[in-house]
Amino acid sequence: MSAEVISGTELAKDIRTELKKEVKVLNEQNINPHLTVIIVGDDPASHSYVKGKKKASAEIGISSEIINLPEDTSETYLLEKVNELNNNINVHGILVQLPLPKQINEQKIIEAISPKKDVDGFHPVNVGNMILGNDTFLSCTPYGIITMLKSKDIEITGKHAVVIGRSNIVGKPVGQLLLNESATVTYCHSKTKDLSKHTLDADILVVAIGKEHVIKAEHVKKDAVVIDVGVNRTKEGKLTGDVDFESVKEVASYITPVPKGVGPMTITMLLKNTIKAAKQIGK
Ligand code: GUN
Repeated sequence: MSAEVISGTELAKDIRTELKKEVKVLNEQNINPHLTVIIVGDDPASHSYVKGKKKASAEIGISSEIINLPEDTSETYLLEKVNELNNNINVHGILVQLPLPKQINEQKIIEAISPKKDVDGFHPVNVGNMILGNDTFLSCTPYGIITMLKSKDIEITGKHAVVIGRSNIVGKPVGQLLLNESATVTYCHSKTKDLSKHTLDADILVVAIGKEHVIKAEHVKKDAVVIDVGVNRTKEGKLTGDVDFESVKEVASYITPVPKGVGPMTITMLLKNTIKAAKQIGK
């Protein structure tokens, strides 16, 4: 039997309907959730992501501003900009789109953002709170993945979750959130020996490699839950995942597609975090 496809688009739509209502209630209290996004340089993929964030914000009534800065922006200038936004009481969420040009130390910028406005959940204070299981801003892609699993009542407790990829944005935090849900977690990465040995033992397999169709049916245990975080462009320019969807769906019990899988959920969690920030900061 073929796997059930978890539609990120459909789940995102349901959640955004609820978030829109929350924004309305806040508006009645004179709180107008506002997200400011800074983008440095001309990377087309980053610009496309940022456009998506602005559009999704507008659809649920969150106002947003995009600050476009040139590729040669200095670290000092960007730090000043972040500081200005930290002190602006009308700004609830601050997001600096990554990657940044090489003259700017990304970690320094992330640490300059007020943890109270860090809707990406990248600040060490928020990362620390996530590890401790405290209420905090969870980084959006991992938060979206957990939300997708829960939407289908997929059991996480006691399951073997295998995460491929160890980035600060996806791999590390998603493994931590799965651990917080009482999974037994294995992290795999580019230096892992015998990747198949691990993937074939996974009840939940999260794939964040960044390479087209690396994971095929022969790497997946029967009835595993497969989450594809990949965003790759084929030679023809089509969006595709790290998982060979067509073959893996014949083995898995649940699978997320690309596009229309994790991507729309990431943006939805950003909206959710922005509303959370607005509630906490207030007017
Ligand atoms: N670049 C790719 N994904 C992300 C994200 O979730 N947040 C930010 N700030 N930059 C990114």
